Amino acid sequence: MDLFFQKLILQSFIVLNFACYSCVSAANLEATIKFCSTCHGEDGNSVAPNIPKLAGRDPNYIARELNYFSSGKRKSDIMAPVISNVDASQFKELGQYFGKQKSSSDKITDIKAADSGKKIYLDGDEGKGLPACAGCHEPSGAGSSRFPRLAGQHKEYLVRELNKFKTDFHTQESARLMRETAKRMTEAEINDVSEYLSGL
Ligand code: HEC
Ligand code: HEC
Repeated sequence: MDLFFQKLILQSFIVLNFACYSCVSAANLEATIKFCSTCHGEDGNSVAPNIPKLAGRDPNYIARELNYFSSGKRKSDIMAPVISNVDASQFKELGQYFGKQKSSSDKITDIKAADSGKKIYLDGDEGKGLPACAGCHEPSGAGSSRFPRLAGQHKEYLVRELNKFKTDFHTQESARLMRETAKRMTEAEINDVSEYLSGL
């Protein structure tokens, strides 16, 4: 074979390889999303009450938490092994995919609890220095990149997380304010505010 043809074959091999690189990484992202969806739901609204919904959460918040799980800053027996199988270059796109899904609401079963939870959420309790949640998480519960969306989140997950803040399980610096806040809450207040938020 002459040199010209050898070069041509080599070149088309390189071109083909590059073309395949992008198609492989796109396919990879799709496969990763499928993997996440087995627990978090295809539309980011998990069915299991102990697995958080991701739909409508700020994309930067999702990506940040993935980095935390990956570095061990946020401890989780489930998400730590899960994330060790995912390429960190996908974190941003995963945040974008799940963030743009529409968050669903759960059904409120205890109206009295939800009513008292609403008061805590919007006003806090000045008497004991409990800040209004709405001040950081937004009155609608929609949140932002720094303060996660709480509206529509499963009650079981919210109660569990608030107790984790309360007992200093979450040690990352960004959770300092939440540790202070949760420590000022009684079990009943945690229950009520979570009942209210799940229905938003
Ligand atoms: C085997 C089930 C499972 C799989 C698969 C899974 N997750 Fe999770 N995820 C969980 C659980 C459970 C939690 C709650 C963390 C905890 O309490 O330990 C969680 C928490 C999270 C959080 C934090 C949410 C918040 O509100 O702070 C994000 C973000 C997240 N997962 C994203 C993902 C992404 C992206 C994928 C795919 C790469 C994924 N998860 C795959 C079960 C899973
Ligand atoms: C001063 C600001 C601030 C106030 C006030 C506040 N939070 Fe938060 N909250 C945060 C921050 C910041 C995080 C994220 C912590 C992290 O992931 O490092 C957070 C996280 C949470 C989470 C975890 C969400 C998830 O998806 O894992 C829950 C639940 C929560 N807050 C509930 C509340 C409730 C209920 C109140 C009112 C009693 C409240 N917060 C008041 C700043 C605040």
